[in-house]
Amino acid sequence: MIPADKIEEVKQAADIVDVVADHIKLRRTGSSFTGLCPFHNEKTPSFNVSPSLGIFKCFGCGEGGDVINFVMQMDGVGFEEAVRTLAERYNVVIQEKTEDQYDPQQHLKDGIYHALRFAGNFFHQNLAESDDAEYAREYLKKRGYPWKTVRKYGLGYAPDRFDGLLKNAESAGINMQYLHESGLVKAREDESGYYDTFRSRLMFPIFNPSGKAIGFGGRTLSSDKKIPKYINSPQTPVYNKSEVLYGIHAAKNEIRKVGEAILVEGYTDVISMHQAGIGNVVSTSGTSLTAGQIRVMKRYGEMLLMIFDADTAGVKAAVRGISIALEGGMAVRVLTLPEEEDPDSFVREYGSEGFLELRKKETVDFLHFLVGLAQKEGRWQDPIERRKSINEILEAIAVMPDGLSRANYIQELSSISRIGDRALLQELEQIRNRIQKNARRTAERAAMRAGREEQDSRRPPSNNQGRQEAARHGEMEHYTGTSVQGAVSRIPADAGGKVEFSGNDTGAEARRHMNPPKRPGYEKELIRLMLTFGDKIIEFIGSYCSENDFEDPALRDCYRDIMTRFQNGDPVSVEVYSRREHPYPELLGEIVLQRHWVSEFGMKKRGVAIHRDASPVNTARGALKSLKIRYLERTREKFLDQYASASDEEKAEIQKWIRKATSEWNRHRQEPAETLFPDI
Ligand code: CTP
Ligand code: MN
Repeated sequence: MIPADKIEEVKQAADIVDVVADHIKLRRTGSSFTGLCPFHNEKTPSFNVSPSLGIFKCFGCGEGGDVINFVMQMDGVGFEEAVRTLAERYNVVIQEKTEDQYDPQQHLKDGIYHALRFAGNFFHQNLAESDDAEYAREYLKKRGYPWKTVRKYGLGYAPDRFDGLLKNAESAGINMQYLHESGLVKAREDESGYYDTFRSRLMFPIFNPSGKAIGFGGRTLSSDKKIPKYINSPQTPVYNKSEVLYGIHAAKNEIRKVGEAILVEGYTDVISMHQAGIGNVVSTSGTSLTAGQIRVMKRYGEMLLMIFDADTAGVKAAVRGISIALEGGMAVRVLTLPEEEDPDSFVREYGSEGFLELRKKETVDFLHFLVGLAQKEGRWQDPIERRKSINEILEAIAVMPDGLSRANYIQELSSISRIGDRALLQELEQIRNRIQKNARRTAERAAMRAGREEQDSRRPPSNNQGRQEAARHGEMEHYTGTSVQGAVSRIPADAGGKVEFSGNDTGAEARRHMNPPKRPGYEKELIRLMLTFGDKIIEFIGSYCSENDFEDPALRDCYRDIMTRFQNGDPVSVEVYSRREHPYPELLGEIVLQRHWVSEFGMKKRGVAIHRDASPVNTARGALKSLKIRYLERTREKFLDQYASASDEEKAEIQKWIRKATSEWNRHRQEPAETLFPDI
């Protein structure tokens, strides 16, 4: 318990305007301040802060309270943690933590934050002091990072041992469960304990906007191609990758000041740009841009400058990113770097003046970028291809929420393409109607279905402990006893791949309506069951699978989202998702409306009998069985691929995993679903 007088002291010391301004742009209106609410999506400001009363209130969503409430909401932490954060910031001294009122979810998060903070300090100190880190220190110096930078970004070094962090954390009394939940250690195969996730790596802590560590990226210093360049923290209750921007804690004030964020790809790009004096830079850490990341950016500024490499490999993802940013209401500009350069190398070579010069010369708005791309690829010269390109550009304009901006870009496109603006506007309206109609229809049907399903099914009560358990299993433990999945992530090539969250690439959704991707039926089935039958089924499914089991990226994201909501005690239903942002309504339509996609024949071929919905648990079992079988097939294939290029030493290891995956695969095919997935 924190004594009441300390809480009062913190409240007195903390400046609510200052704290809120870390997260949103505030404008003074008389004696108070207003801005766009960080807790819900809005276009006109209804969020108010009164410095004299020390409170905030959003008249849009109703959220309100004092500075402590704000930090609780914003950082997703409990009361005590919020008070401590503020106390630290405003130099109020409070004695050590004790256990008191017990909110398991909050407790879990606080525990994870604590473990992450410890690890961050440990890695950093290790980089500063240990002999083994000499090479890492040299490396950083060579890359042009003075210690000041290393300190500012909390860089560290994970020792080349399986128990470096583990031992230190243990002797410091860090709770192993939280260390495990944070993804910093993994459970040993034989369940005899844990081992360090990050070994012999340069560590980049990833911070939330308030500067709390929420995860890590670890870069190898080896040039061995078989070793993954980066290993990243897994998704955890405090680290939702689709809403995190690397560098945001250091960049937010500058973004607010200039009204623009610069988006780059990597950790080092951010750090080098900041170091060169360009402060408004953040990165997606190699994943494709998501709507959630755009929402975070937009709290601070409305403009986005996307920096692309010259190579065409990244262009497709870039175009998708443009749509997502436009759909999120940002004004998008693009700067393409010279061949063979990335932002890090460029500013190191040419400094900030070089960058500003290049930016002045080469920056184009998204429209000119897309036209230029079509020209470069020879699509602008041919009338038919040009027609297609124009349509693609119209699709991008169509998702922009602001009508004036749309009109503006139509004018621009008209003058570039020499097609009359009337014709373009007509086309645009058609596209917009189509998007709207699709969204509305999907939502309506889904809502109708939801009503019907809800009548059919009794939603059994579920206690919070069950939620925690299931959610934890879903995220971290994977399934019953065996941990083939854990093994997969231990093998380099798998852990090394860039993370893709393509489920969120919603801007291009309109284009996809024409030609929806084929998604595995059993995966859709599982999502459908979770959405229509509620807690009990979510708990059941969540305790037997993890997001990695899902092959389809959109469904994987959906699964993760459901589990997060479930874990937070938020309602999960068809209705909820039909009212959510893109791409959920569309995805929902595909999942809930098409009953015929589960090919009973295909299921039978896999030895799975499906009796739909007579017993949802049994349906879930059938779908889980297919999911697992397919997952194990993929795992085997992956191992087999890796085997070919592995060293002798690794070969033996991989062989072991292949055997393991094969026997698991056989077991899953042979055993009935009831024994594979018994009642929980
Ligand atoms: N990334 C990743 N996993 C990989 C490779 C890359 O998560 N196996 C992410 C990292 O966030 C990385 C970003 O993608 O920062 C960009 O990748 P890359 O350009 O290869 O790395 P840099 O950060 O530029 O690293 P460096 O400059 O040290 O080569
Ligand atoms: Mn780089």
